Amino acid sequence: MSATSIDLADIQGDILKAYGNRYRHTSYVFIGVGDAARGRAWLSDLVDRVTTAVHWDGGRPDATLNLALTRPGLAALGVPDTTIETFSTEFRQGMAARAAELGDFEDSAPAHWDPGLGSGEAHMLVTINALDSSALETALAELRDGLQRNGGLSTILEEHTQMFSRQREHFGFADGFSQPAIEGVTDPDRVPGQGVPQANGWRPLALGEFILGHEDEESRTDPKHRLPSAPADPLGRNSTYMVWRKVRQDVALFRRTVFEASRFYAARDNDKLMAKIVGRWQNGAPLVNAPSAPPPEFDPKAPGANDFRYAVDPTGSRCPIGAHIRRSNPRDALGFDGKLTFRHRIIRRGMPYGPELPPGVTEDDGEERGLVFVCFNASISRQFESIQRQWLNDGNSFHLGNDTDFLLGGPSGKMTIQGDPPFFLAPQGPFTTTRGGEYLFVPGITALAAIADGVVA
Ligand code: HEM
Repeated sequence: MSATSIDLADIQGDILKAYGNRYRHTSYVFIGVGDAARGRAWLSDLVDRVTTAVHWDGGRPDATLNLALTRPGLAALGVPDTTIETFSTEFRQGMAARAAELGDFEDSAPAHWDPGLGSGEAHMLVTINALDSSALETALAELRDGLQRNGGLSTILEEHTQMFSRQREHFGFADGFSQPAIEGVTDPDRVPGQGVPQANGWRPLALGEFILGHEDEESRTDPKHRLPSAPADPLGRNSTYMVWRKVRQDVALFRRTVFEASRFYAARDNDKLMAKIVGRWQNGAPLVNAPSAPPPEFDPKAPGANDFRYAVDPTGSRCPIGAHIRRSNPRDALGFDGKLTFRHRIIRRGMPYGPELPPGVTEDDGEERGLVFVCFNASISRQFESIQRQWLNDGNSFHLGNDTDFLLGGPSGKMTIQGDPPFFLAPQGPFTTTRGGEYLFVPGITALAAIADGVVA
């Protein structure tokens, strides 16, 4: 599929291509709809202001605006139940109802989530990306003003996130640059390492893996080219599903645990042990390509920077088999030329919330901090949930028994770092806690206008 055949003006922005690191602020505003007609009137006014995927030739805006809806939100806006029934099961159930699949137990259970999340009160999500704090304040003031004037809407929750220097997340790693290559979207130079591994090189993924109403990896090989399941047009065209998940990070506990363990590992090499947990050095360089030490400079955006396969490291001596990136995108690691993995890819757009814990501090300062994890996919169950359930929260696919992803923390309590001898990293603390989340539908622009006009059958 060529870029020209993708209707970028009908797809919301920041999905196929990120707005970019110049947008240092992202705010999420969850809204409740008390009155369907007023909610639709507000949406009608908003449709033209929603930022699309069209390239910015005339310079970037100071702030962008995007919109997504929960299942209760569709109902609150008057979308008929018979239409809502055509959306995917997991979207209709919502993230809280999927807690068992996602491993959200104990402190991460929905009963302990932040007020307004997982309760059915959050109907719409407005996402604002802004270049600086003054652009953010202007956009937020305008949004709040419009909500107040409408009278039929209420703010359920606001969450404000901010990019740290060098695009690091709270545990200290460069994050967010490894993304799937998409046919007709991704620069061909960036395909190596981002798409589907082939005998000779890599190929990009079909658009329908991420945007509804287009051929996905299955339908493109179907002789009748039947499109993947989606609501009827216009809802099922150029729309997608979004996962919004607030994950608290206990940075002090993570630092202490790694520091204590490194006393027994590789001559007290704390940085190396950190790298083994993620599969990348903190600057982003992959262990497969740089197993002994990080290169002094690593530009994750350089062509080919992400080009590596796990076949060169079958025993995990360079990158542990249970490292975070080897679990979350195993590439060719499960054999069969990557055929077991390429249907489970996600586009990630997360941002850190809360203040950074100053470098070297290993005692908690009581501040709330973590990651607002956001991803887009055409099938939440096959893509996001599969990664979380089968690869991060379970070791079976990798012959790792009960080992779970060490970064996220889990019930097993350890990570195996292959080597001669192997090193067992323990204990695995509750480094992360789910504070809440929602599954959302991100309508294409025509779909959004149809919902706003109340003409969805
Ligand atoms: C606090 C929670 C999390 C942290 C701190 C975290 C951190 C990271 C880091 C540092 C990277 C490497 C940088 C990059 O490849 O862009 C990464 C990659 C990735 N993470 Fe996470 N992550 C978290 C949660 C999750 C969750 C919940 C999922 C999915 C269910 C996930 C899926 C991925 C994927 C797919 C990659 C890309 C791997 C690749 O393409 O090689 N992460 N994460």
